[in-house]
Amino acid sequence: MTPVAWTPQRWRSRPADQQPDWPDLGQLDAARKELAGRPPLVFAGEVRHLTEQLGEVASGRAFLLQAGDCAESFDDLSADAIRDKLRVILQMAVVLTYGAGVPVVKVGRMAGQFAKPRSSPTEAVGDLTLPAFRGHMVNDDAPTTAGRQPDPGRLLTAYNHAAATLNLVRAFTKGGFADLSQVHSWNQQFVASSDEGRRYEQIAAEIDGALRFMAACGIDLGAEQSLHQVDFFTSHEALILDYEEALTRCDSLTGDWYDCSAHTLWIGERTRAIDGAHVDFLSGVRNPIGCKIGPSATVDEVLELCRRLNPDRIPGRLTFVTRMGATRAGDLLPPLFAAVANAGTPVVWTCDPMHGNTFTSAGGQKTRRFDDILTELRAFFAAHRAVGTWPGGIHVELTGSDVTECLGGDGQIGEDQLHLRYTTTCDPRLNARQAIDLAFRVAELLRT
Ligand code: PEP
Ligand code: CO
Repeated sequence: MTPVAWTPQRWRSRPADQQPDWPDLGQLDAARKELAGRPPLVFAGEVRHLTEQLGEVASGRAFLLQAGDCAESFDDLSADAIRDKLRVILQMAVVLTYGAGVPVVKVGRMAGQFAKPRSSPTEAVGDLTLPAFRGHMVNDDAPTTAGRQPDPGRLLTAYNHAAATLNLVRAFTKGGFADLSQVHSWNQQFVASSDEGRRYEQIAAEIDGALRFMAACGIDLGAEQSLHQVDFFTSHEALILDYEEALTRCDSLTGDWYDCSAHTLWIGERTRAIDGAHVDFLSGVRNPIGCKIGPSATVDEVLELCRRLNPDRIPGRLTFVTRMGATRAGDLLPPLFAAVANAGTPVVWTCDPMHGNTFTSAGGQKTRRFDDILTELRAFFAAHRAVGTWPGGIHVELTGSDVTECLGGDGQIGEDQLHLRYTTTCDPRLNARQAIDLAFRVAELLRT
């Protein structure tokens, strides 16, 4: 029997986990049709450019920083919130560029990260059993029966929010906000403003020296475009396949299919079944794609994912995002790195040190310890060093504001402080200071 050729609809013949129970399929159909007529959010040329840059990461000549919210919120579409998140990511990128000594590819979990996979389809709230919150693309986080009803109209709202966010991100990253001297001066403020920050005085001073050296050589730091503008790419988990299918377009230049909802999409830990709909869908689009790899992944599964998702062995096409947990990463990672290296498939290996380290505090909040996050990162770098592969990047959940969701780090947040500013709609995020603290720690790891 000849296999059925890939189309953006072929996933419908495979088991699709984590899809909402839409109450009204007529409304879903109408939303899909409307989305299919909307302009693409990103363009094939930009996507190809990202694949090239990730190809550099796969070859050990660049480093990937992917960061942003666990779940973006429809209630938080302010210019300030977007600017502050972007600022933290840019600050981290400067520190990492210096630490790694190679370009840093910057990808936001932004402008589309609106859908969440859940471990359980329901949640007990008091005496009620409600459908779980699945991200604002699907339902509301408010714990009421009405709020948790999936609403296909949200697919269109998600598109609108993504478009508005992306518009601002494009303006900020090309319009001067990303100026290297300015980003560096924010880092200097961080270093000067706390005891934790002062640990990094030396790295900050070295970056400062490098900038002054360039200026002394006659490079006009304000006029040099590469120091003034940055490439910034968007990403989200390709979870709700009705949405992704509707935004998938055929590129008129090449005849290839691109999922134009974001520059790069990833497959989550819960939907990476080899014969499942998500792997099938992303196997056919030409975007660079990611796949989360958790503790249950076997060497055979990972090798099969390479064959399905990157049969042509294109560098930059496939990123594996490992999320093993601090205590297990050291044992689980080396065999995977070695097997993929032996198979000769180019991949980017990046470390998500967040999702294997979540627990519930005594006060009932989901949280993560900064030290566990660091321990997993250390294990990731050590495993690469042992196997001789390139630690390609980090993938973290953060926000630009002063939330109290993760424990420890700069500011030493304790369990008794979690309730103060706990605003995430899903997983706990690093706040701005914790995120910059983390970037300096990773820079130290990269330099040793
Ligand atoms: C996430 O990235 O928010 C997420 C749900 O991760 P994972 O699929 O690794 O659990
Ligand atoms: Co998350």
